Amino acid sequence: MKFHPLIAILLATAACAPDPVLGDFAVSPLPKEITVEEGAPFVFSPRTAIQAPRELETTARLLSEALEEATGMKPALSEKGRIVLSIDPTLPEEGYRIQCRKNGIHIAGGSGKGVFYGTQTLYKALPVHPQGRPALPAATVQDTPAFSYRGFMVDVGRHYFDIGYLEELLDIMALHGINVFHWHLTEDQGWRIPVPAYPRLTEVGAYRSRSILEPGSTQFDTIPVQGHYTREEMEHLVRYAADRQITVIPEIDMPGHMLAALASYPELGCTGGPYAVAERYGVFADVLCPGKDATLDFAKAVLEEVMDIFPSQYIHLGGDECPKERWESCPDCQARIRELGLKDLPGKSKENRLQTWFMEQMQEVLRARGRHMMGWDEILEGTPAPDVTVLAWTSPKAALRSAREGHPTVTCPIQHLYFSNPRWNRLTGRESIDRVYSLEVVPAELSETERKNVIGAEGCIWTEWVADSTKMEWEMLPRIAALAELQWGAPKDLDAFLPRLEKMTQLYDRRGWNWKKDIAEAWH
Ligand code: ACM
Ligand code: ZN
Repeated sequence: MKFHPLIAILLATAACAPDPVLGDFAVSPLPKEITVEEGAPFVFSPRTAIQAPRELETTARLLSEALEEATGMKPALSEKGRIVLSIDPTLPEEGYRIQCRKNGIHIAGGSGKGVFYGTQTLYKALPVHPQGRPALPAATVQDTPAFSYRGFMVDVGRHYFDIGYLEELLDIMALHGINVFHWHLTEDQGWRIPVPAYPRLTEVGAYRSRSILEPGSTQFDTIPVQGHYTREEMEHLVRYAADRQITVIPEIDMPGHMLAALASYPELGCTGGPYAVAERYGVFADVLCPGKDATLDFAKAVLEEVMDIFPSQYIHLGGDECPKERWESCPDCQARIRELGLKDLPGKSKENRLQTWFMEQMQEVLRARGRHMMGWDEILEGTPAPDVTVLAWTSPKAALRSAREGHPTVTCPIQHLYFSNPRWNRLTGRESIDRVYSLEVVPAELSETERKNVIGAEGCIWTEWVADSTKMEWEMLPRIAALAELQWGAPKDLDAFLPRLEKMTQLYDRRGWNWKKDIAEAWH
């Protein structure tokens, strides 16, 4: 048999071309359905291009950058590409379908959100370090998240993290299909959002000269902690998040955890101060004084500014850890209680009801602009309106109570989902993962109707003991992948999850993110 010389050359090159290296669609969080199809895989080449309608251009651009990182080849955006992105309104809004065949890959989503999640799965499915030509098996993947609220909270009050780094944290969240960044912006130890009518909030409240050395210590370091965001930076972060299908929910924690504001404006406290930005951690007796009209004016002005910057449907008003001792002896607070006719109710003191009243005034400010209030579960000690969404942190039982009382509820119990808790962080390996993974997002005791009130789950990082990116990532990774499996509703099977988790850690390594290495004991 004789070959045409050109065919001979082609055959010779084909023989030299490295073999395709197959990826795997069983990524984390695990897609609902993966059907392996007959036929050859899709092999990436330098000519692979992405085709997308205008409305999906940002997602297409991000996919192109992600594929360049994964394959070393940057797909062009083109009118005719072998990777096609499109919207299929018959799919659930956040759902997607990937059809991968030899001749092309089609990602369809119920909306831009679904398409974005499809691109994340595609990126994660690729081999981590292909020694040959990166390829994906012929398959059809269908997926949709179990919960509409898939959050992650970062506290920037105890320690400040700049916008560039928060972008990186949003990249981590996006990779895990998280759709809410809950931005805890104010604390006893630092106020991070400027409010033009109250300039001292950032002139005074954004600075402390030192911090307690370790839990239980009486010694301090000599390291100042300072920083606040500009309005432009915050607006930029909102857009950066939106490009990755993440909503930023800001939190102004009130009426407790307000020492930085009180240090700036002592007239907003019950005693008039003086107060100082906190240098140690915990719960402090000095909180806002709801007996004074100036406090209401202050809180309203802050929320108006917050709503100008953040378009989110939800605004988080905190409400946690607010001791009532100052209010009990404050003439203004007691006068307000009398004027409102507040009386003790079983299990609800008149001061608890004063907190509810104060938060209701703020809820009205949100309502006037079509926004909804969120709060931590201590607000259940008062009498919050049923439409208030509750973040149930104090225990798994708090979610049970909140959902039973009819509130939209986000599960984030300290025992499972506080990634920064020093005690729980002593767990290593499998136990460290299982601590997160074993959470029942929807408490089993709830009735069919009550179950619907649980809208999702959230992981939290409080930064008392997190001063830098190394520790931040160590706390987040890889357990955020276990959280994502809960949020997306992957079937619970820890042994089956561990290989997917191991692959995630390889991706973190490629991205240069620091992860909690002791967890690798679980698969070694
Ligand atoms: C909280 O951990 N104080 C919400
Ligand atoms: Zn007072």
